[in-house]
Amino acid sequence: MFLTKKQEKMLEGEMGEVISKNMKLIVKLGEINEAKKLIPIKSAQIAGVSYFTVGEAIFSFFNLFSKENVKVKVPSWLNPAGMDRKNWEKMGITERFAEKQFQIIQKYEEMGVESTLTCTPYLIGYQPNYGEHLAWSESSAVVMANSFFGARTNREGGPSALAAALTGFTAEYGFHLTEKRQPTIKVNVETNLDTLADFSALGYWYGKNFHGETPFITGLSQLSINEAKMLSSAIAASGSVALFHAKNLSPESEIISLDNIKEKIIFSESEKQSVYDCFTQKDTNFDIVVIGCPHASLTELVIIHSSLKDKVLKKNLKFWVFTSQKVSNSKKFKPIQRCLEKKGIEIFTDTCMVVSPIVRTKYKHILTNSAKASKYLSNSKQTKVTFRSLHHILRNVTE
Ligand code: F3S
Repeated sequence: MFLTKKQEKMLEGEMGEVISKNMKLIVKLGEINEAKKLIPIKSAQIAGVSYFTVGEAIFSFFNLFSKENVKVKVPSWLNPAGMDRKNWEKMGITERFAEKQFQIIQKYEEMGVESTLTCTPYLIGYQPNYGEHLAWSESSAVVMANSFFGARTNREGGPSALAAALTGFTAEYGFHLTEKRQPTIKVNVETNLDTLADFSALGYWYGKNFHGETPFITGLSQLSINEAKMLSSAIAASGSVALFHAKNLSPESEIISLDNIKEKIIFSESEKQSVYDCFTQKDTNFDIVVIGCPHASLTELVIIHSSLKDKVLKKNLKFWVFTSQKVSNSKKFKPIQRCLEKKGIEIFTDTCMVVSPIVRTKYKHILTNSAKASKYLSNSKQTKVTFRSLHHILRNVTE
């Protein structure tokens, strides 16, 4: 692989042992994937933050960095942690867990990573530009960056995203290359997608059936940022898909080549319904509603607020919404938050229903509007999950 003089020096240790180790990781990944060179990145988004998912192993990893005071070279942000930084006790998090979680966040902050603790950096002002190269690791954000914004990133792991952040480079392979961004399956949507959950269902169904294949989606009349967010998270969760194109709606849809299309498929009402059926239980004794996978936008919070304004939540039903601190701190949100909290709805930031240990261990029947959350939460045998649209949920959770 071609390396510039500067990159060679970084690799050989002239800028310290830590940078050298991280360069080695990036070069190794590049060699495995037959990259011809390294390219500079504009930003990094780093997963591997929740103490629940990374455990004690993360501290040995951090020890590799502790000798030198290394800092990230590009704007870098963190994925959600295992708890809300302010309201962790309210969530039922233990003191020991909280202590460990704060230590992890601090380690990243010492390297200059901004503790945004969200999977939706694009909702808080960090939208990538068309054609920019990135190293993002949250799978739903990767699909958003590639598909909705037309930026270019592979599905990085936490360590490779951090390595890219510390060196400022990634290897040029996969979704950084125009030829790897061409669709291979054409999906015609022949049913109405009326709710955000319907977009989630489309993503989930496609990913489950066409693992890793880039789709060219036709038949959609619109694709808002919230709709794209739901589609992206589900398609990545069920099928490790990193990019989709939507005819006339996504930025590269006019310039892609359709020469590699090997199959044409239809997403009709029955395919859509099959996803809801997949996460349907016989009983409707939900003990918690969880919204905000990916993290809720202000628009979604406004929908919840206006639907429940004059209503009373069912007794003994928990209703948790997950979002980012930046959304929750926004001026527009404060009056909404006060009203929702009066109704017993908890708004948690910095974390989510999947990367926090609480939802899956304390609650037996979870109701959500996210196919991604449904997939991960139903991995636990003692937990039942029902997947419905936000509108359906809001109609059914009040007295
Ligand atoms: Fe985000 Fe957690 Fe869902 S990180 S995409 S809210 S699983």
